[in-house]
Amino acid sequence: MIMASKLIIYLVLPTFLLIFFYSTLLPFQTTTTSKIPILTPSPCDLFKGKWILDPTRKPMYDSSCPFHRNSWNCIRNGRENMGRINSWKWVPERCDLNRVDPDRFLNSMKNKNIGFVGDSLNENFLVSFLCVLRMADNSAKKWKRKGAWRGAYFPKFNVTVAYHRAVLLAKYEWQAKQPQLSDHEDVKGIYRVDVDIPADDWANISDFYDVLIFNTGHWWGYDKFPKETPLVFFNNGQPIHPPLDMLDGFKVVLENMVSHIEKTVPKKTLKFWRLQSPRHFHGGDWNQNGSCLFHDPLEESQLDLWFDLSNDGVNKEARKWNHLIEETLKGTSIRTLDVTHMSEFRADGHPAIWLGKKDAVAVWGQDCMHWCLPGVPDTWVDILTQLISYNLEKG
Ligand SMILES: *[C@@H]1O[C@H](CO)[C@@H](O)[C@H](O)[C@H]1NC(C)=O
Ligand SMILES: *[C@@H]1O[C@H](CO)[C@@H](O)[C@H](O)[C@H]1NC(C)=O
Ligand SMILES: *[C@@H]1O[C@H](CO)[C@@H](O)[C@H](O)[C@H]1NC(C)=O
Repeated sequence: MIMASKLIIYLVLPTFLLIFFYSTLLPFQTTTTSKIPILTPSPCDLFKGKWILDPTRKPMYDSSCPFHRNSWNCIRNGRENMGRINSWKWVPERCDLNRVDPDRFLNSMKNKNIGFVGDSLNENFLVSFLCVLRMADNSAKKWKRKGAWRGAYFPKFNVTVAYHRAVLLAKYEWQAKQPQLSDHEDVKGIYRVDVDIPADDWANISDFYDVLIFNTGHWWGYDKFPKETPLVFFNNGQPIHPPLDMLDGFKVVLENMVSHIEKTVPKKTLKFWRLQSPRHFHGGDWNQNGSCLFHDPLEESQLDLWFDLSNDGVNKEARKWNHLIEETLKGTSIRTLDVTHMSEFRADGHPAIWLGKKDAVAVWGQDCMHWCLPGVPDTWVDILTQLISYNLEKG
């Protein structure tokens, strides 16, 4: 028996390895050229590569950074493995990604401001950015103005970096039950989304910022907006007929917000759109005991199983929304920050059960969506700053 099963392993394993090898090779060859984002003129594609373990690599900041948000402060919250999580280095295929030099970067940004607009995954990104930049100016102060949810001012360089919370980007508000808007008895009320109006929090900020980074995606789900309290889409002050489902609503909001940005944000402002940050719920969704107690990044061969739409897994929405976003951004002046692929590997990088509050896991489940800080978004910062510097130098 034992001999037989060993034999099977010896025979079957190489076959699988071969299949994996070819399945990673084939699509790769056909997509390399089309994947290079045309509107990200950069010396090379920073978004394709692999994670390599570098034991000498250390995080740039620790749990004492004053800009931390408690539930992402994984060192303070005692997450296992934080040393290892921060020892992985992203190595692009055909070029080097240097770590940001905060002092040099802030010097090059003197008297300039950087704004993030979107959902909590952009807030996660911002916190990483603030903690990294603070290494060059520890007199950095909290900054909350002009509709900003959180941010910091760096007096040494006269630079402001802030986050404007606008989870759908478009304006939306709760409206108690209005019978004429819905025939359904079980509807308690609606969230009215004005597809043509940006949310107040970022409506008039574009003159202030020299660089803007947008995102939306994580709120577009029936867990946030179930059928008892659905999204109802309005255009020009009137409900859209026939009513749009969530996917079509997402498309229409994207088109409107992108065209609003193109029309109102000054030409000289550098505009980025951060593509989806993937989630890593294993064994169930966030409200079904899904977990992410991983010690290492996923293998490249595992990614499609987790994220490909055809496998219909619980984490598929990142790629699904990305298709629509990339389609909408084609031909615009907004550059994509395609952190999705690199982050798909990092099942090990989430706060999971280490949320800093005793009951949080029982109430909310594990957090396999946001990222531990220091952690994966620090690499997003390296990429963003490299692209900002490149594009500013180019003029
Ligand atoms: C700081 O930067 C702003 C632009 O963001 C500029 O208007 C202002 O004059 C600068 N202040 C100083 C002291 O240079
Ligand atoms: C933004 O500016 C426009 C034009 O000045 C104004 O009509 C609108 O009320 C402003 N919106 C917000 C949220 O401040
Ligand atoms: C999640 O786990 C708890 C405790 O083990 C169990 O009572 C509950 O039924 C599980 N929920 C789901 C959706 O599996």
